[in-house]
Parts: sequence; structure tokens; C-alpha cells
Amino acid sequence: MYEKKSTTSKQQKEIRVGLVGHMFMGVAHSNAYRNAGIWNDLPCAVSMQAVCAKDTEENLSAFAKKFGWQSYEREWKILVSREDIDLISVAVPGNLHKPIVLEALKNGKHVFCEKPLANTLADAKAMYDAAIDTSLAHCCGFSYRFCPAQALAKEMVNQGRIGNVNHVFARYAQDWPSSPDFPMVWRFDKTVAGSGSLGDICAHSIDATRFITGLNFSKVIGQMKTVIKERPLSAGQLKAKQPVSVDDVAQFLCEFDNGATGCFEATRMAPGRKNYNYIEVNGDAGSLFWNFEEQNYLYYYDKKKPVPEQGFSKINATHELHPYGGGPWPQGHGIGYADTFVIEIANFLTAIAKGESFQPNFLDGLECQKVLDAVERSANENRWIDI
Ligand SMILES: NC(=O)c1ccc[n+]([C@@H]2O[C@H](COP(=O)([O-])OP(=O)(O)OC[C@H]3O[C@@H](n4cnc5c(N)ncnc54)[C@H](O)[C@@H]3O)[C@@H](O)[C@H]2O)c1
Repeated sequence: MYEKKSTTSKQQKEIRVGLVGHMFMGVAHSNAYRNAGIWNDLPCAVSMQAVCAKDTEENLSAFAKKFGWQSYEREWKILVSREDIDLISVAVPGNLHKPIVLEALKNGKHVFCEKPLANTLADAKAMYDAAIDTSLAHCCGFSYRFCPAQALAKEMVNQGRIGNVNHVFARYAQDWPSSPDFPMVWRFDKTVAGSGSLGDICAHSIDATRFITGLNFSKVIGQMKTVIKERPLSAGQLKAKQPVSVDDVAQFLCEFDNGATGCFEATRMAPGRKNYNYIEVNGDAGSLFWNFEEQNYLYYYDKKKPVPEQGFSKINATHELHPYGGGPWPQGHGIGYADTFVIEIANFLTAIAKGESFQPNFLDGLECQKVLDAVERSANENRWIDI
């Protein structure tokens, strides 16, 4: 472990951060804490105090140096009890979300927890209850809300640009483990991941629907399927296999609280689909659709246009008048995956520094978990489930 250097300024509040996790989301969070200030003029300083992960001293030390963390820990319990940390970012598998978050809140830390909030509805409820019992800030990492085009879709629905919502169609498709030779990782183990495609990617579609339309899910009927039932223990061990205990595909129909309906699919078995996160909202005055693979664009159909001019228009959502458009880049220059985390974390840090409420928070995480839980129960019991 190497020494922390304090950068506290008397003029500006400093938020001192600790991160758990150093792989996919750990890198996204590290980059975001480091660069949050380039997106917004933050009302606070940010000090990247320590990172913690399950790895060797050598690797953790190298990771900390590479991303600018001032120290590292090998036990999350030590990290979340450190007095020189104000905010804990949780970027680890789902089974660790609840214990880390509860301990962090108990120690008076603000928390950023990756999605889905938990592996079960009971755990998500316990985390939400613990968070609202405090005055601490909480974020559930539905990062796609911070894609400017998705935020623009929400604004346009709020402005009545598509009228009353009649239905939502969402499909989140990937192909990274679609070969049976792809080895076991924690995402295929229910005791660690909670569920498969459902919690991993459909959670984003559920949240995007709540975010863009403002509707709540009232009932669902779903099915879930494990396509590849066992996988090699590791890439080099193709013969030794382990059973897969989560869904590869989850599909459901739903009804919303305004009577609108929806159709959802999440799959990691769609060859050619890399990160196809698609949502379409149809209203009585028009439609909107967005797909992360073209994340800077929002498609809009306006029924009020003269019939000969009708058709979907493609909006490049990078103008300074668009949500988050006041960032560092001029219009038309587009943003990428990592930028959405920079925007998300810049907004969360700003909310903490100003003592303002923040969304998506643990209530959003809990509401999403209610839908995930209902889809799984529906698939097991083969019937509609009210939420
Ligand atoms: N917002 C998004 O779009 C998005 C994208 C991917 C993943 N996620 C979520 O982020 C979380 C992490 O996923 P990931 O893809 O980064 O996983 P990952 O496998 O890439 O990384 C997991 C990390 O957890 C650490 N870890 C595991 N056990 C630990 C322990 N006992 N103590 C400390 N560290 C431990 C590992 O060392 C590793 O750094 C999951 O909840 C996932 O659903 C969110």
C-alpha cells in the first residue's frame, strides 16, 4: 500500500471516493471519477482515495497507479470502514452488492451501486430501506439514462411530442457467450449473479422504460430459457464442464399503470448483436426509438406532419440544447460508452456536493427489481403476476 496525499481545498468541498471492483465497471468508474470534471464544472474536488478488488498486491498496485487511485485495499470491509472515504462505488458481482452497501451506509458513506441493485427483491428492499433511513446519497447505476439521446426521449415524452403512450417494445441483445465453448464466468452462476440476461441487461430496458415514459409496470407474464446448459470450467479446459444456472434468454409481455402494454426481450444468444440496446415507444401522436449501437441519435416520428412529409427523423442529440449537450465537445462530435459514466458520476458528485436528490437512486433500483422478480416468478409459475 502506498501513502495517500490529501488534496483538500478550504474553498471547495472534497468528496473522497473508494471503489470496489477493478474490471469492466471498475474501469468505467475509475475513468469517470478521474474525468468527471471535464464534463461539468464540479462544485467539489474529487479525491480518488482507494480501490479494492480480488487480486494480487502487484495487480492492485498497478491498477491504482494506472487510474490515479492513491492507495488500494484487498478487503472491502477495510475499505468501507476507512475514515478518509465519503463515497463508496460498488462495481462487483450482484451477490456482494447488499453486504457492501449496508456496511458502507452503516459507516456513513454515500453509495453508488451498480445495477441490478441486488440479486433478490428482498435484498433490494433491505438496501432501499437502509438508504432512506439516512441522509446519505444513493445511486443505482442505470448508466444508459445518461446517454443524451435517451434523456432527450424522456424530455420529448414529457413535452407530449408523442402523445399518450400506447406501447413499448424493448430488446437488449448480445452475442458474447453464444458459443458453447465460452467458459464459465460468474454471470452464469445464479448464486453470484442472481439471474442471467434478465438482471444483466433486461434491467436496463426496464429502467429505460420507467425513465422515458414515467409509467410503472403493473403486471407481467414471462418466459426464461437456458440455451447452453453447461460450459467449460475455463477457456483451456473444454472437457470439464459446469452447469449454467441462469437464463440465457428472458422475454416478457407487460401492462403499465395507464393501460399501455409492452413487449421485452433480453438475450445473450443473438449472433451479430454486440450491444443492441433498443427501445421504441409508440404514442397516439408519434413514436420514438433509440438503439445504443447508434447512441448519439434519436429517431422521432411526428404524426402531425403533413402526410407527404411523414417519416422518422434522425436527431443528432449532441447540440448544446440537448440534455448534457453543454459538455466539452462541439455539436456533432458524438460521445462514446465511457462518456455516459463520466456524465453519470459528474451528476452524482454534483448532487452530493449540493445536497440535492439524485436519480436513478435506490428507489429506481427497487422498482426495477420488482419487475425482475415478477418476470422470474411468472416464468416459474407460468402465469401473469401483478406487481
Ligand atoms: N451499468 C452498466 O451498464 C453495467 C455494465 C456491466 C456490468 N454492470 C454491473 O456492474 C457490476 C460488476 O460487473 P463487471 O462487469 O464489472 O464484473 P467484472 O467481472 O468485470 O468485475 C468484477 C470485479 O469484482 C471484484 N470482486 C469480486 N469479488 C470481490 C470481493 N470479494 N472483494 C472485492 N472485489 C471483488 C473483482 O476483482 C472484479 O474487479 C455487476 O453488478 C454488473 O451487473 C453494469
